Amino acid sequence: MPAYGARIAGTGSALPERRLTNADLEKLVETSDEWIIQRTGMRERRIAGPGESTVTLATAAARRALEDAGVSGQELGLIIVATLTPDMMTPAAACLEQAQLGITRHIGAFDLNAACSGFVYSLSTATQFIQNGSFSKVLVVGAETLSRVVDYTDRNTCILFGDGAGAAVLVRDDNPKLGVQAFHLGANGEGGPLLNIPAGGSLHPASAATVAERMHYLKMNGREVYKFAVHQMTESLRRAMEACGLTADDVKLVVPHQVNQRIIDSATEKMGFPKEKVFINIDRYGNTSAASVPIALDEARKSGRCGKGDWIIMVAFGAGLTWAAATVKL
Ligand code: UT7
Repeated sequence: MPAYGARIAGTGSALPERRLTNADLEKLVETSDEWIIQRTGMRERRIAGPGESTVTLATAAARRALEDAGVSGQELGLIIVATLTPDMMTPAAACLEQAQLGITRHIGAFDLNAACSGFVYSLSTATQFIQNGSFSKVLVVGAETLSRVVDYTDRNTCILFGDGAGAAVLVRDDNPKLGVQAFHLGANGEGGPLLNIPAGGSLHPASAATVAERMHYLKMNGREVYKFAVHQMTESLRRAMEACGLTADDVKLVVPHQVNQRIIDSATEKMGFPKEKVFINIDRYGNTSAASVPIALDEARKSGRCGKGDWIIMVAFGAGLTWAAATVKL
C-alpha cells in the first residue's frame, strides 16, 4: 500500500464554440449523416477558432479544474499535459500552459505523448509522484486541436475527430485507498504505421515536398485499428476489474475513450456493463484523442453519474499503438 492516495479533487473541461456537424461534412467529402451515425455514433464535433490552440483550451480546462478543486495554480507541484497536437514542437504545451495560468513558481512541467491513451498514462504517472510523497498537488491535462492535423479531403478520418480539453487536479490524501488503485499501460510499436502523422518530425521535416504530399495530416488504417481496438478495450477493462477484484456490479461507471460507439458497446457489453454504466458523449464531440477521457470524466462527475466513494474505470487506446486503463476510487 502506498503512503498516500492521489485523490481527484477537481475536474474541468473546455470545448470550442464552433460546431462541425455531419451535415457540414456531407459538403466536404462523400459521406452521409446516416453512415456516420450508424458506423460511429457521432453527430457533431467542436472545432477550434483562429485564436484558439491546444494550450488555450488546456488552460481554460485547467482553470475550471483548479476552481472545482479549490486549489490555486501557485500550489501546484507539477503539470503534465497529454497531447499529440502541442502548439509547437518545443517548448512543451505544459510550459506554455504554466505561463498562461500565471504560475510564477518554477514547478516541473512536461508533455506526455501516448496519443489517445495519453490522459490515462499521465494520470498514472502523476499518481506515482503523489503516492510517494514527492508532490501534494498535480495538474493533469488532456488537450487536442486535431482539426489542425485532420485532412478534410479524407473521408476515412475527417468524420471522426474534434477539438477540446479536459483536466484533473490530483491532491495528496492521507487515505491511500483513494484515487488510482490500479493501472495498466501498454504499447505495441509495431502497430505504429496504422495511425500516424508522417511528417513534421525528425524523419521527414517540413519541406515543400512533404506539404505537397499531404504528409502532415493524420493517416489511419481504420479497419485494422478497429479490430485492435475492440480486443484491447475488452482486455484492458478485464485487467482493470481483476486488479481490484471488481465485478461490473461494483463499478459505478466506465469512462471510455470516445472512439466509436460500436467499439465501446462491444467491449463494455462483453464485460457485462449495462448501457447506463458507460459514459458517452461521442455524439457531441467525436474523438478528441487525449482530451476525450478527461472531458468525459468532468461531465460524468458534474452530472452526478459518479461521485465520492464510487469505483470508476477509465480506459483508452490509440496511436502507438498504445492502451491504458485506470481503476479509480473517487
Ligand atoms: O483513437 C483511435 C483512432 N481511431 C479509431 O479508433 C478508428 C477505429 N476505426 C473505426 O472507427 C472504423 O473503422 C471507421 C469508423 C473508421 C470505419 O468504419 P468501418 O465500419 O470499419 O468501415 P470500413 O472502413 O470497413 O469501410 C466500409 C465502407 C468502405 O467502402 P467499401 O470499400 O466497402 O466500398 C469505405 O470506403 O465505407 C466506406 N467509407 C465511408 N462511406 C461513407 C469509409 N468512410 C466513409 C465515410 N462515409 N465517411
